[in-house]
Amino acid sequence: MSDVSAVSDVTEQVHLTALRQPSVTDAAAWHRVVAAAVAHDLPAVPPPTPGQIHAQLTKPALDSQQLMWLAAAPDGTVTGVAALRLFSSPGQDHLAELRLHVDPAHRRHGTGSQLLAAVVAACRTEDRRSLITEATAGGPGAAFCDRWGFRRVLDLDHLVLDLRRVDARRIDELCDAGRPGYRLTGWTGTVPDELADAFAAAKGAMNDMPVGDLDYGTLRWDADRVRAMAEVVSGRGDTLLTVAAVHDDGTVAGYTEVVLPQGGAGWAVQYDTAVVPAHRGHGLGVWVKAAMLRRLRAEHPHVATIETDNAQDNVHMLAVNRRLGFEIAWRTHEYQLDLPVH
Ligand SMILES: CC(C)(COP(=O)(O)OP(=O)(O)OC[C@H]1O[C@@H](n2cnc3c(N)ncnc32)[C@H](O)[C@@H]1OP(=O)(O)O)[C@@H](O)C(=O)NCCC(=O)NCCS
Repeated sequence: MSDVSAVSDVTEQVHLTALRQPSVTDAAAWHRVVAAAVAHDLPAVPPPTPGQIHAQLTKPALDSQQLMWLAAAPDGTVTGVAALRLFSSPGQDHLAELRLHVDPAHRRHGTGSQLLAAVVAACRTEDRRSLITEATAGGPGAAFCDRWGFRRVLDLDHLVLDLRRVDARRIDELCDAGRPGYRLTGWTGTVPDELADAFAAAKGAMNDMPVGDLDYGTLRWDADRVRAMAEVVSGRGDTLLTVAAVHDDGTVAGYTEVVLPQGGAGWAVQYDTAVVPAHRGHGLGVWVKAAMLRRLRAEHPHVATIETDNAQDNVHMLAVNRRLGFEIAWRTHEYQLDLPVH
């Protein structure tokens, strides 16, 4: 059987609640489940803090809304959680993204399947043709996705860089080597007004990153969207750092973004790195990323680790990351469930 709508026939009693406005108690229960799942499935990764989860559940995201469900056992214990992100921008309004976690102590009793059935029903109501989710390679999420007919559409390497082991002199050399015709700049939070249009144009370069068979769609960036994205990050209490290479003609030729999650205890997350097609082949990717490492050392010395992920066939980005000392820590797959559209 691969039709998830039939799961209620085969699972134990699980009570689902759709959350409209998660309360503090809901957020605490959600945190308990996710923290237990991450500690069990990815022990090398620090579990999210209660504050991070509260922000994920209650703060607005960019061009999307989120539906949420809690699953509880008959005694009321919350045993599983599902968050479904419904994208709303014109190039992505076919897409929904699932984050699903079941407490390791309550697995293989049908809880994940019950949550997925509610998620798939919501996707139908919302007229979504593609439901995507990420699962660790070889882990229970991958088996679960196989079970319910998801297709594996993209393989990702997750890499980490231990900043305490980075050779600061080498990073300085890479930064100082210079690139004729380009200068480095950087900012925290929202892009300065004078660079906003040029930066939005460069953001479009992310649309050609390799995404395998993922039905991800395309995003159109303008200055307002760039500002809105920075506001979403700061609204969650996180800090967005950007380093960019600007060409003499004013074009933003490449950039890299790192987010420092609130209360993140030294664990930073790489967001975009992109070089605009016309400016590729000049070493700008390594340059902006090395400059980001130097900036972190100077301005945020408590940051010890940066996590990034790359599609396994994104050979250029992987080469840049390896050159800077990033090492593969774990692998994931992106899965997609293709849904009938009415
Ligand atoms: C994936 C996850 C949500 C499954 O939750 P769950 O409540 O255990 O799932 P179910 O009991 O409904 O499992 C349904 C079926 O999926 C498959 N499955 C689930 N976990 C499995 C495992 N560890 N090994 C093999 N098959 C598994 C089985 O076919 C299972 O049916 P069965 O128990 O009758 O054999 C849970 O393991 C989890 O939270 N994992 C970490 C987070 C994650 O990877 N999320 C992404 C997945 S969308």
